Formats: sequence, C-alpha cells, structure tokens
Amino acid sequence: MAIENTLSIIKPDATRRDLTGLVNAKFEKAGLKIIAQKRLHLSKAVAQKFYEVHKDRPFYNDLVEFMISGPIIVQVLRGEGAVILNRTVMGATNPSEADEGTIRKEFAESIEANSVHGSDSSENAINEINFFFAEIELLI
Ligand code: CMP
Repeated sequence: MAIENTLSIIKPDATRRDLTGLVNAKFEKAGLKIIAQKRLHLSKAVAQKFYEVHKDRPFYNDLVEFMISGPIIVQVLRGEGAVILNRTVMGATNPSEADEGTIRKEFAESIEANSVHGSDSSENAINEINFFFAEIELLI
C-alpha cells in the first residue's frame, strides 16, 4: 500500500480532558507519523463549512455547536494506507460499536463527542488537508 496523508482532528471533548498526548501515542504506535499539527478554536462559519457534507443530516447543527465548544487539534498523519489505518485506530463512529483498544472505545463520550475525526477516503483526505493546511506547512 502506498504512503499517503490523512486529516485527523482531535475534538473538543478530548482537548478538554487533556487527552491529546494519549491520542497521539495511539497514532504513533500504529505507525502513523504526525507530520503537521496545530491547535485551533473554530468559528461557527468554519465549522459549518468543514462539515457542509452533513448539512442535511439531523445532527448537523449540534455537531457544529460541539465542534466550536472548545479548542481542537488539526493534524496531518502520514503512513502506509494512512486513511484506512487511521480509521482502524479511531474505531467506529459510535463508541458503543468500537473495537477494544481503539481511540473511540477508550476515550469517546458519545457518538457526537467521539474524540477524533478522520478522513473517510483518499480524495476527501486531500480536500480536508487543503482546508486546514497550506502547502508550505507540509514540506518536510
Ligand atoms: P466525524 O467523523 O467527525 O464525522 C461527522 C460526525 O458527526 C461524526 O464524526 C460524529 O461525531 C457526528 N455525529 C453525531 N451524530 C451522528 C450520527 N447519528 N451518525 C453519524 N455521525 C454523527
């Protein structure tokens, strides 16, 4: 499998509980290198834009409010098959369905406050990385 990048977000429920280091340790143990990361507090307009794909879903407004409720860490993870690998490390969206040892199983509070976001395809990974990072931040 080819080396690729994926976008990860450590969500407000995790930053609030100071779980960034423990989440990052999961990524690194799985072979995902954190090649860029920054802490942001999103505006409503930015959160709405990022989650625009979900704008017709019943949970959209609550999701946006949750994502602006505190700081987040946006990061670019790199590794072999990073998109799928990261989704495995994160676990299922709903923590009650997540496998043992996954980030969401260990740390998530609910389907909304589920600690991490990860791109769901290689194409979306490129779009999501470009949403948060400039090319110059990834030149390493
Ligand atoms: P994420 O990977 O960030 O993508 C969309 C988010 O919507 C998802 O994780 C969940 O945190 C959130 N969400 C809230 N309710 C639901 C739901 N019923 N189904 C799917 N996602 C949900």
